[in-house]
Amino acid sequence: MRVLLTGGAGYIGSHTALVLLERGHEVVVLDDFSNSSREAARRVAELSGREVPVIEADLADRAAATAALDGVDFDAVIHFAGLKSVGESVAEPTRYYRVNIDSTLTLLDLMRERGVTNLVFSSSATVYGDPQYVPQDEAHRTGVGLTNPYGWSKFMIEQIIRDTFTSWPELGAVVLRYFNPVGAHPSGRIGEDPTGIPNNLMPFIAQVAVGKRERLSVFGDAYPTVDGTGVRDYIHVMDLAEGHVAALERIAPGVKTYNLGSGTGSSVLEVVRAFEEASGCPVPYTVVPPRPGDVAEVVANPSKANAELDWSTTRSLAESCRDSWAWQSANPDGYRA
Ligand code: UD1
Repeated sequence: MRVLLTGGAGYIGSHTALVLLERGHEVVVLDDFSNSSREAARRVAELSGREVPVIEADLADRAAATAALDGVDFDAVIHFAGLKSVGESVAEPTRYYRVNIDSTLTLLDLMRERGVTNLVFSSSATVYGDPQYVPQDEAHRTGVGLTNPYGWSKFMIEQIIRDTFTSWPELGAVVLRYFNPVGAHPSGRIGEDPTGIPNNLMPFIAQVAVGKRERLSVFGDAYPTVDGTGVRDYIHVMDLAEGHVAALERIAPGVKTYNLGSGTGSSVLEVVRAFEEASGCPVPYTVVPPRPGDVAEVVANPSKANAELDWSTTRSLAESCRDSWAWQSANPDGYRA
């Protein structure tokens, strides 16, 4: 297939582009580079030995995106593009809703106009809100206890996709609910390149290990978990990328929803120790009060994806730490030379 990757120069998009190319598909990257780098697409081309056409356009700007995609052929879309910082979304809700929702609306209209029926969408386990039970399967309720506009935008877009299918039964859409993506391509050439202070645990730890930041703040140690710190399901970004390809290759009319996670939870302190071991560098930390909106434990039940997509994670937390370290230590300033 020839696959349009919106946000294809970002963290998950770039790894998925590489796996698609290695599987013999063609890719076209559409990105506005607001939180990503052209260099990522260049390195994907270098790693794959294949061409990676890049279109610079803001999908939330309908006129600009339509013009930019004029004459560009594709059979399927993986829609990664969007804003993803939880804290920023609380401070700037209208921007988050406008960018995340408008870009999806534009994309769906554009696909329908052009008769492109295959869509994979990047959703998040955040739609489960306050967990009723763990591990969470796809039948877990959604949209209750969401604490930020970022999470709501994912919830709303899932609904928009289902409503679009109702009016357009040829649409084949797969909604993928990511748990906590970590790690990098084992080459250390592509990886996660957060701007400013990382919000997420593993990139923060990586910057402490490399000496860019002094110490990690551990957000709470009195949760009802194995050691009191928060437990999450960390999934290697290459496993996640393979999940997208598996979904794409099985796409059919309808809307399917899958958890992409490993099914195994790790605590903050377990991640700290795994990273210290992988890097050989100490990761000093201080326990501070819990972060508002955080929950004790989020772990996927990935059985549905395992069975229907014939996909499961194969990489361990230790490998995630090793690959994250390879990327961080070779690129301490990310893609900025
Ligand atoms: C967060 C978002 C989620 C989003 C995901 C994207 C919240 C409430 N959730 O998930 O909506 O989809 O990022 O990647 O923000 N931690 C520390 N110190 C740190 C950073 C994190 O102790 O400096 C802890 C957290 O309390 C949590 C765990 O590490 O227990 C993972 O945190 P993080 O990487 O931010 O992911 P989530 O909060 O699970």
